[in-house]
Amino acid sequence: MGKPLLKTDDSVLNTSTNPIFSDVLETQLGRRQLLKGGAALSAAGLLSSSFSAIAQAATPAPVSLGFESVPLSTSDTVVVPKGYRAEVLYAWGDPIGIKGKMPAFKADASNSAEEQAVQAGMHHDGMAYFPLPFGSAHSKQGLLAINHEYTDDGLLHSDGMKMWNAEKVRKAQHAVGVSIIEVQDLGGQKGWQVVRPSQFARRVHALTPIQIGGPARGHALMRTAADPRGVEVLGTFNNCASGPTPWGTYLTCEENWSDYFANNGQLSEDDKRYGIKATDAGYRWAEVDFRFDRQINPNEPHRFGWVVEIDPFDPKAKPIKRTALGRIKHEGATVTIAQDGRAVVYMGDDQRFEYIYKFVSRDKFNRYDRKANRDLLEHGTLYVARFDADGSGQWLELTHGKNGLTAANGFADQGEVVIKTRLAADRVGATKMDRPEWIAVHPHKAGEVYCTLTNNSERGTDGKPATDAANPRAKNVFGHIIRWHEASNDSTATQFKWDIYALAGNPERDGDKKGNIKGDIYGSPDGLVFSRNGILWIQTDVSTSTLNQKDYTGMGNNQMLATIPETGETRRFLTGPNGCEVTGLAFTPDLKTMFVNIQHPGEPASERSDPAAPKAISSWPDGAQGGRPRAATVVIRREDGGVIGEV
Ligand code: FEO
Ligand code: CA
Ligand code: CA
Ligand code: CA
Repeated sequence: MGKPLLKTDDSVLNTSTNPIFSDVLETQLGRRQLLKGGAALSAAGLLSSSFSAIAQAATPAPVSLGFESVPLSTSDTVVVPKGYRAEVLYAWGDPIGIKGKMPAFKADASNSAEEQAVQAGMHHDGMAYFPLPFGSAHSKQGLLAINHEYTDDGLLHSDGMKMWNAEKVRKAQHAVGVSIIEVQDLGGQKGWQVVRPSQFARRVHALTPIQIGGPARGHALMRTAADPRGVEVLGTFNNCASGPTPWGTYLTCEENWSDYFANNGQLSEDDKRYGIKATDAGYRWAEVDFRFDRQINPNEPHRFGWVVEIDPFDPKAKPIKRTALGRIKHEGATVTIAQDGRAVVYMGDDQRFEYIYKFVSRDKFNRYDRKANRDLLEHGTLYVARFDADGSGQWLELTHGKNGLTAANGFADQGEVVIKTRLAADRVGATKMDRPEWIAVHPHKAGEVYCTLTNNSERGTDGKPATDAANPRAKNVFGHIIRWHEASNDSTATQFKWDIYALAGNPERDGDKKGNIKGDIYGSPDGLVFSRNGILWIQTDVSTSTLNQKDYTGMGNNQMLATIPETGETRRFLTGPNGCEVTGLAFTPDLKTMFVNIQHPGEPASERSDPAAPKAISSWPDGAQGGRPRAATVVIRREDGGVIGEV
């Protein structure tokens, strides 16, 4: 067993003195406008995929849940409701489908680093479906963009981390990042398959050249010996949640990137605020790749913590880090288009007592010319949220020269504001939240937004921030879902009203641990996605150190639920195999196919498997006769071919 990893999720880096406030797509475009123009534009191939799909959603009446909930489970399998089927599509090690380079997965994990670069990465997370061809609402053929968050090096290499060398680090670097695969529904018994070979097949990983865009491009704090101009970085990793854009690109988000760096010296202000420690969290890249040694390359950590935009339709297009969206531990990036046509991106910073952010583009989304949106995320305004005790809220602007973000206070220019986003947010007085994870925008109610706050067992404990109206439970082990409504239904507004949608946990518990879910219980909500018929899907990520034990005793494996915001009704739709997290969710435009990711089946509490007994906790999906447990994308459909979740 490897040494227990120090999850940055579990530490508190926000020591600012911000007040605690108890002391003190269609979404936005007019529905009529869409319905009028949608069909014709879609037929002409002029609308982006998301918009054409939305334009066909002519009935916004709230739906009813039409499935029988599944019970809590501790079985090593994916359980779905009666009348549904779940099938594995794409597991760690499966070839992505590059012509002439399709090495099969070896069950003893003996694939080389070179082979891993053209196979599915580990630990599938955020995901999006893009119909093919671009501009269509095709529900039988498309691209899947899939994040690979981190590695379990105990499973990744045949002998785990016993011997450590550059080849193993390179394999790990190839096992994170993003997969772009082509998928097709062949019908009948064959169902959905990965298309191999495919011209679209692509891996982006920790060594892929990526452009730096936005205000931090070329900044002195972004320059390194290998990149003296500060314009290009190698790679992206710890890609957690994500977001598709209406112009057909994929936003992948760098979350616990600090875990890969080692300081080996005195900690700087940036190290402390972002959690770079003396030694890394157990990935051991810095031992052989000095890019990850903070002392040797002091600016390299500034080049991570960003949202990265990828064009899945063009395998040759270089991904771009969109630095205007800030440098945090990005969970996801949820895009909506405001009434006036500007793009709005909601983002959570997932660590205890961190913040919720919003970016509003300077320019407007162009529905008629995909290329015109290429640099939409280059220019705009970044905000951070303050939730006041009276149920109102403010988006506080993070612009150089405003709200004290001046040279005298350590922010020389906008580049420095975005590189030091957390410090800028501290200064303007944002509200410290209980680990913001995914954010979802209601598809039928302009300006209505939901965010999962997964848990925060340190809230209200000694020396830590007290409870406040928006984070009302001390030792919040089960988490909650907060909801806000932007002023005048306008996503660009700087004011909002908020309330708490659900306190997770068992309603039969006492005191602060008591939940108020109307229906099936869950804890540690994380993934959160609206299907365009108005069902809100919740996925859970109870840590493997508490799964089905301690406060979670009897609550089983991680799961996915469906809830109807108008009534609060909540039903359990899926339970995952042992030791997994359920995350990543995408639908075809007809809502008849759902893609779900099962992350880290078999993960022990230490997050590092024992290569001598890799199946100790789970053997999913290959079963007892197979090799190691593997993260995988699962396809879910109704046996009668109907719309998922509905009656
Ligand atoms: Fe990668 Fe916050 O989950
Ligand atoms: Ca997550
Ligand atoms: Ca989580
Ligand atoms: Ca996880």
